[in-house]
Amino acid sequence: MARLLVTGGAGFIGSNFVHHVLDHTDHDVVVLDKLTYAGNLASLDGLPADRFRFVQGDIADPTVVDELVGGVDAVVHYAAESHNDNSLHDPRPFLDTNIIGTYTLLEAVRRHEKRFHHISTDEVYGDLELDDPARFTEHTPYNPSSPYSSTKAGSDLLVRAWVRSFGVQATISNCSNNYGPYQHVEKFIPRQITNVIRGIRPKLYGAGENVRDWIHADDHSSAVLTILDRGVIGETYLIGADGEKNNKDVVELILTLMGQPADAYDHVTDRAGHDLRYAIDSTKLRTDLGWAPQYSDFEAGLAATIDWYRNNEAWWAPTKDGVEAFYASKGQ
Ligand code: NAD
Ligand code: TYD
Repeated sequence: MARLLVTGGAGFIGSNFVHHVLDHTDHDVVVLDKLTYAGNLASLDGLPADRFRFVQGDIADPTVVDELVGGVDAVVHYAAESHNDNSLHDPRPFLDTNIIGTYTLLEAVRRHEKRFHHISTDEVYGDLELDDPARFTEHTPYNPSSPYSSTKAGSDLLVRAWVRSFGVQATISNCSNNYGPYQHVEKFIPRQITNVIRGIRPKLYGAGENVRDWIHADDHSSAVLTILDRGVIGETYLIGADGEKNNKDVVELILTLMGQPADAYDHVTDRAGHDLRYAIDSTKLRTDLGWAPQYSDFEAGLAATIDWYRNNEAWWAPTKDGVEAFYASKGQ
């Protein structure tokens, strides 16, 4: 049994990880989360009080971070500003949280000599051509495009430097696009599902040919637990489930699964600097650590996610109008 500090545990992937850990292990969990617009305490409802504690605070606050890190065995670091579109509108919070916040955590784990796992994204590698047979590997050079991905790349490099310079016991994972329950309605899949529920036509940026490599958030959680258990200190592991799809196909599948005509969507203004394609080769994680994803059927995972948004309107309804007003102001 271990005590884990999970930063960003009230966000999408962090809350899925907390549920996964409490369901599948005997670890205890402390969540540190600032509850920005992206955090939602309702995502952590019903967790066992004897194994779970929530602390509201900023990962860039050295006092709160130092006290919490001192009391656990390991830190799993999910907290971030995570949305590309927001980073194009106002980059500053991305620097504060993704760079200074990660630095603050690294200094605390260094002082207290605690295990650290850093959650990152495949977007640090930039993008691939649509017709390129290549996929990202642990050896792909960093080439981030947006304020979001460049601050995530910066945070990865800080972790590598703290391992090499100070002997911090850290691992890094870079995962592809996640889907599943508890994802904020600003993101692509929940935005389109909740649009259809509300009678709004889904919005596709540009021609919709951009490709994302989808993985269910629960598979991301099992991969992170595997790396925490068996990962080699200083190593980076790519997490992916061979789920490449273009955005047009995903929108059409959502519409079909929700009983609408497949072409009942609008093309809207494209994202500035829109990355064309992400694709992950997760051979190292599968071969060296023996991990495999459980959600191999994207259509079934998407149908379950649609059901979750249908059954949990109270979770997302308070944020929906504000998100749509923001996108509408940008022609999206
Ligand atoms: P999210 O935006 O849903 O959640 C982020 C959480 O961090 C929120 O609860 C927010 O309140 C909290 N937070 C933000 N700033 C904070 C601060 N300064 N101090 C403490 N808490 C703070 O994000 P997500 O989609 O769950 O992503 C989680 C992590 O996974 C991020 O590091 C992201 O880069 C990475 N990631 C995401 C994806 C994806 O598809 N969403 C894919 C790969 C990697
Ligand atoms: P998003 O969920 O923002 O994730 P990321 O930018 O990290 O990949 O977007 C996924 C893809 O969907 C991306 O190519 C942008 C596109 N997209 C749309 O076409 N329409 C939308 O309304 C949104 C939010 C995204």
